[in-house]
Amino acid sequence: MLQRPRRNRKSEAIRQMVQETHVSAANLIFPLFIIDGNNQKSEVASMPGIYRHSVDNLLREVESCLKLGLNAFDLFPNIDESLKDKYATESYRDGSLYLRAISEVKKNFPEACVITDVAMDPYSSDGHDGIVENGEILNDETLEVLGKMALAHAQAGADIIAPSDMMDGRVGYIRNVLDDNGFTGVSIMSYTAKYASAFYGPFRDALNSAPKFGDKKSYQMNPANQREALIEADLDEAEGADFLMVKPALPYLDVIKLLKDNTELPIAAYNVSGEYAMIKAAIQKGWLNEQRAITEVLTSIRRAGATAILTYHAKEVLENKWL
Ligand code: PBG
Repeated sequence: MLQRPRRNRKSEAIRQMVQETHVSAANLIFPLFIIDGNNQKSEVASMPGIYRHSVDNLLREVESCLKLGLNAFDLFPNIDESLKDKYATESYRDGSLYLRAISEVKKNFPEACVITDVAMDPYSSDGHDGIVENGEILNDETLEVLGKMALAHAQAGADIIAPSDMMDGRVGYIRNVLDDNGFTGVSIMSYTAKYASAFYGPFRDALNSAPKFGDKKSYQMNPANQREALIEADLDEAEGADFLMVKPALPYLDVIKLLKDNTELPIAAYNVSGEYAMIKAAIQKGWLNEQRAITEVLTSIRRAGATAILTYHAKEVLENKWL
């Protein structure tokens, strides 16, 4: 045998020398859940170790993450049921919980990269990402709401706007609204290939944002489709997206790779709540080695082609020095 691939695996030094993929703090984005109140911190039952934070507590959380070199945060609000309505008006109301959270974080930590979620579901009395009329999700009417929401986020200081709603044309619509209002420097991280996935369950528990009827299959993609992701990618790129996101991550590594091979834009992947819950449940049962399972997951998402990973593991991997 002239070729013996095992020679390059024979010591830790050589294994590290030939390692193709790395995960570092700079690649990670930490999703954070926000609730109203003071000094509140409530754990999400299906996501052990993940909390909903009141704004004062959020600031402490961001500070401790920054000390670990974790600089990017994606914020999601838990909105009181009484504030929800058909048009998600709470999403752009001056002084709302979410807008206060954005501006407090940016005021206290200007160096933090704040990513904001644009979609109606946390604020919608229907629990859908768009306006509902006779059981249908309206597309173009929803764009107006998304535009107002994105503008409010930019005014509050958001660095990156991340539309997660999957309405057609929203990237271009939001880009125009931002540009027309002088926010040409605010980026868009588009949820390009967002699938109608079972793995969002724990997130909807965290935010109490599950759809009140039906499902999200008329706007989120069919998990069986790969080529359709290219149509979405072409549109988002043409409409001015700065990042293309694939979501969820682990069951869609092929889609991450496909987009990576078909765009020059950076790819983000969302290692979603259900992926986190799955790992944590197995770890609690003693069925997996925590450090090895989590670093293997993150490495595989990077190997598939993701530049940035949105992951609930972001803080623990740095705190424990697992990377
Ligand atoms: C809503 C949104 C969802 C997630 C991010 N933004 C849920 C959904 O589409 O129902 C899921 C994130 C996760 O599961 O971690 N627009």
